[in-house]
Amino acid sequence: MPLFTIDQTKCKRDGICVAECPSQIIVQKDKKSFPELMAGGDEYCINCGHCVAVCPHGAFILNSMPPAACEPLDQNLLPDAPSLKHLLQARRSIRTYQKKTVSRKIISELIEAAHYAPTASNKQQVHWIVFQDPDEVQRLAAMVIDFMKQTLSLAVDEAAADRYRRIIRVWDSGVDRIMRGAPHLVVAHSPSDTSFPEADCAHALAYLELYAFARGLGTCWAGYFTAASNAHGPLIHTLGLPAGHRCYGAVMLGYPRYKYKRIPAREEAKLHFR
Ligand SMILES: Cc1cc2nc3c(=O)[nH]c(=O)nc-3n(C[C@H](O)[C@H](O)[C@H](O)COP(=O)(O)O)c2cc1C
Repeated sequence: MPLFTIDQTKCKRDGICVAECPSQIIVQKDKKSFPELMAGGDEYCINCGHCVAVCPHGAFILNSMPPAACEPLDQNLLPDAPSLKHLLQARRSIRTYQKKTVSRKIISELIEAAHYAPTASNKQQVHWIVFQDPDEVQRLAAMVIDFMKQTLSLAVDEAAADRYRRIIRVWDSGVDRIMRGAPHLVVAHSPSDTSFPEADCAHALAYLELYAFARGLGTCWAGYFTAASNAHGPLIHTLGLPAGHRCYGAVMLGYPRYKYKRIPAREEAKLHFR
């Protein structure tokens, strides 16, 4: 089966698909010819669907992704730049959560949104585990504390050791600074041999955090958990990732207890134009 076909009744031979293909495997001999696949081009297609999505005439039929399989882009649903900028600035890391849990339906919606984050070479190799049970999330936090206790003597510097000691001390007094009492934990993992697994997972988690905020939810990176997740035997066992996968990030998730009223000031961007 060919990689793609061109509906010649619709194609206007405008060359847009040729210009937009990231792998440059679509060729057009001249302005009168229809686009064709470069010899041996199949091998280089990353199945990103840009050819289908960009064609204004619906003439490009990628066999794995015909135009009918691609949702139309609705300009009216796009936020304007000030709204989006405000959302980006207004999202906060949330560290106090309501007891209420988030439904599986809403969590699936978050993952669906995160799933549209870019991935290197469109590999789409971000996998997810969602811990739904708040007690299980607390057990994970306890494992991170065990890890901190075991590695305290190996802490790289005194500041790090001091931070660990404080976290352990407050944990022993009933305060959770690992999961912040969040009811859920969303873990992103990838095969470690993809090109950019850290970046893929971080992008996906950032999308998830922003969409969660727009949906009235709160998130916070679980950095201590992430650091322990590939190093502490009991956590590795509990996560049970497929062979060759590593955890590259995780966020706490729940309904925030408080609403923020202001956007905290940030340092000026460290920017140099050249
Ligand atoms: C990689 C990474 C790891 C983080 N780890 C933690 C963490 O373990 N616990 C925590 O409370 N916040 C964690 N944070 C949240 C940051 O402290 C937070 O993003 C920062 O203070 C700015 O606040 P904002 O997210 O509300 O803008 C982490 C953030 C990032 C990007």
